[in-house]
Parts: sequence; structure tokens; C-alpha cells
Amino acid sequence: MKRIVVVGTQWGDEGKGKITDYLAQKADVVCRFQGGDNAGHTIVLDGDKHSLHLLPSGALNDNIINVMANGMVINPETLVHEIETFKPKHLLISDRAHVIFPFHRAFDIHAEALKESALIGTTQRGIGPAYADKASRIGMRMATFVQRDAFLKQLDVMLRIKNDEASRYGLDPFDKETIIETYGRYAEQIKTYVTDTSSRLNHYIHTGKNIVFEGAQGSLLCLDHGTYPYVTSSSPTAASVPLNTGIAPWLIDGAIGVTKAYTTRVGQGPLPSEIDDVIAHQIREKGHEYGTTTGRPRRIGWLDTVVIRHAKQTGGLTGLAVTLLDVLTGIDPLYIVDKYILDGVETESIPASIEDFNRVNVHLLKMKGWTEKISDIKSYDDLPIHAKSYLQTIERLTGLPIMIYSVGPDRHQTIERIPIFLPRSDLR
Ligand code: GDP
Ligand code: IMO
Ligand code: MG
Repeated sequence: MKRIVVVGTQWGDEGKGKITDYLAQKADVVCRFQGGDNAGHTIVLDGDKHSLHLLPSGALNDNIINVMANGMVINPETLVHEIETFKPKHLLISDRAHVIFPFHRAFDIHAEALKESALIGTTQRGIGPAYADKASRIGMRMATFVQRDAFLKQLDVMLRIKNDEASRYGLDPFDKETIIETYGRYAEQIKTYVTDTSSRLNHYIHTGKNIVFEGAQGSLLCLDHGTYPYVTSSSPTAASVPLNTGIAPWLIDGAIGVTKAYTTRVGQGPLPSEIDDVIAHQIREKGHEYGTTTGRPRRIGWLDTVVIRHAKQTGGLTGLAVTLLDVLTGIDPLYIVDKYILDGVETESIPASIEDFNRVNVHLLKMKGWTEKISDIKSYDDLPIHAKSYLQTIERLTGLPIMIYSVGPDRHQTIERIPIFLPRSDLR
């Protein structure tokens, strides 16, 4: 495979950053294709932890071309900070990606406050309002942002609309001069990276480069196929890569679904396999299950294979990367959800209505746990028999091969079971 997609199969935080960084060692290009700084992707390199919100997870690798594609919504303040911190050698930002402004964040927070019990629990990064403005055709593309005259003209239009909304909501107006002053400075700092990334990606494809397309969030947070309305505002599936990057669908060779060995969710919305007991506490503490972006404790559930099959069907997965297997060491028994029961009837699919989803009961398969430490193992043969059987059950219930599994946060605690890339191309 030369062009592969890495996506989350659950509700985010599956370890996409870790798997992308691992694959980046043999890749030429890593491209983030949607979302914004609602994402928090962690990479641990020789014990040092790095959190990325916007930069692609190839950023820690000097030889990589990092691309931020048109499907992203970019907060320039976060981006400038990350560029200063990580100093990526090669960075390209799509001229069609949209810009997040302070009013997007303010409206995100305001709308959540009005929802009361129907609150989504967003990351409050302005993601929903920024994508809404894109769809309403009043957003601002990077191409406009970095051209001073065009920026001033479009900001004027946006602020006329946004300040009208603000006054209706009883919010203070947004000050144009302050935005021009701070965001004008960000635009100058970002300018040199902004380009037509669709053309560049197509060029890299035609010159045989190895490319990883890195998704943010997870399949169940997809605007179309997720647990709406408890979702994000973009499509974090492999199916959205062509639109979100400007390449043809048939140029993608495969999609790896990153899957935690259990399930977590941060924010509101259904989580049918949720557990809230001593075991949940043990998993949360051992797996450091607290949000990378907001620090919120993540909700914990057993592994749910109905969710993974849904991700496979709606996003076209061709293999899995199972992460955080080490966190399950010492828990016996373990459970895996194999099907749902809705109003007494077995169902294979995820209900579209949230009311139905909230009534779903899970059917659990009981599995034997293991006690042996696995965080230093180097091959599949070294795994305890019950850990192997846990992985085999995932393969059987999802119909997907486990290509990679991970037994600790560090880059070297990753085992590639089925080779994904040939060595890096030397065509550069
Ligand atoms: P992402 O948003 O999908 O990139 O995932 P996050 O970085 O938000 O959350 C995954 C967390 O699990 C991070 O703290 C990672 O360092 C950690 N992690 C990833 N893989 C493993 C693993 O195999 N074992 C353990 N113990 N931690 C892992
Ligand atoms: P990564 O890429 C986990 C969740 C939020 C909320 C919902 C909508 O690190 O896996 P938004 O701010 O996008 O409007 O919030 O989606 N959410 C995530 N949960 N990981 C993420 O990203 C998430 N990005 C958004 O908690 O429930
Ligand atoms: Mg995360």
C-alpha cells in the first residue's frame, strides 16, 4: 500500500496520533484532512510526551512533508503556537482550509449554554460554528486570510453578520480592530505555508510517495454516520478523504481503523457498553483516560464490535490497529459487545435515532483476562494466550485483520503484524 488512511473507529482518542507517528517513519507525507484543534493527538517518543492539536502527527519526523488539507478548520492562534513549538521542517496548509475566529468560539460556548440538558459537551473550540459558516458561505478560506485586502473585506462581511447575531443573543460585539491586529499578525506568520495542497498531493501520488491521511475524532463522531446530534461537525471517516483533500477516491489503497482495546467517550451522548465501577476507574487511571484537549475524564466502556462494524461499513476500513492492550492486563474477566438488543430484538446495526440508541442493551461475550505484563513484548508469539484470544475475537467479530497492535504509549511499543508500507520512496 502507498496511500493509507488512519481513522478512529470509536468516539475519538483511540491513539491515531501514535499510529500515524509510527507509520510516518516509513512515509513521505502525512496529511490531516478534517477537524481542527478539537483534536488532541499524543505521541510519546523515548518517554517524552507531545500533544498535537492541528499539526499532522508526522511533525516529529524531520523527513516528512506535513499537509493540512482543505477539510480542516484552523485556529491560527493554536497553529502559530504549534509551529513555534514543533518547528516542522516541511509544512503545507491548504488555501481552501477555513479559519476559526474568536466569534466562532464564543458562539460555540453560547449555544452549548442554551442547550441545557441537551448539551453536546463540545470542546468549545468553535468547530461547529466555523463549519456552519463554511456551509453558509460566509466563512474565510486561508487564501483570503493571508491576502491583507481580501482579509479586511471578508472580515467586514463576517463581522456585520456576527455582530448582528451577537446583539440578538445579548453578547458583546466583536471588535474589528482587535481581530485585525492579532489575526493580521497570525496571517503574516502563516502565509508562507499556504498553497494549493490538492495539486501537491496529486503530484506526490503520481511520483509514488508513501502517504498517510490522518483523521481526527472517530467514526461515531461523524456528522453523517455518528451518534447525531452528539457528534462533531465534520466527517472523520476514510470515505471523506477525497473531498477533504482534493484527490480521487480510487487513489486510496486502504484504511486502518484505530481501535482502543476497550471504549472511551468524552462529552455527552450514548455509550451502550459504558461501565462506571471499580473496573472503569482502574482503566481510566491506568490508561490516563483524561482528554488531551480539555482534560475532562473520559467515560469508559467495554469494547463494542457493533461500533467497529459500523465504522467499517460507513468508512471502508480494510484493517485495524488495536491500541492500549496493556491497559487490560490484570482485568479478569473481560467483556466484548458482539450485538445490540433493541426492544427485545437482536440488531446488528446502529439506530439512527438517538432515542432508539439510548434504549439499546448490549449483549456481552465473556472473555478470560491475562495477568502477564505485555508492555515489553516484541512479537505476537510473546503475547499471553488469553491476549491472543482477545485479539482473535476482535478479528472474528469485525471481519478485519489486526495489522498493528500497541502495548504502551511509546513509539517503540508498537508491533506491526502485517507490513503496511514498503520502505520510504527515494524519489524525492
Ligand atoms: P488520538 O486522539 O486518537 O490521537 O488519541 P489521544 O492521544 O487523544 O489518546 C490516546 C492516549 O493513549 C494517549 O495518551 C496515548 O499516549 C496513549 N496510548 C496510545 N497507545 C497506547 C498503548 O498502546 N498503551 C498505553 N498505555 N497508552 C497508549
Ligand atoms: P481526537 O482527534 C474525542 C467530541 C467532543 C464532543 C463532540 C463535539 O483527539 O480523537 P466539537 O468540539 O468537535 O464540536 O465536539 O465531539 N470530540 C472529541 N472526542 N476526541 C476528539 O478528537 C474529539 N473531538 C471532538 O468531546 O463530544
Ligand atoms: Mg485525542
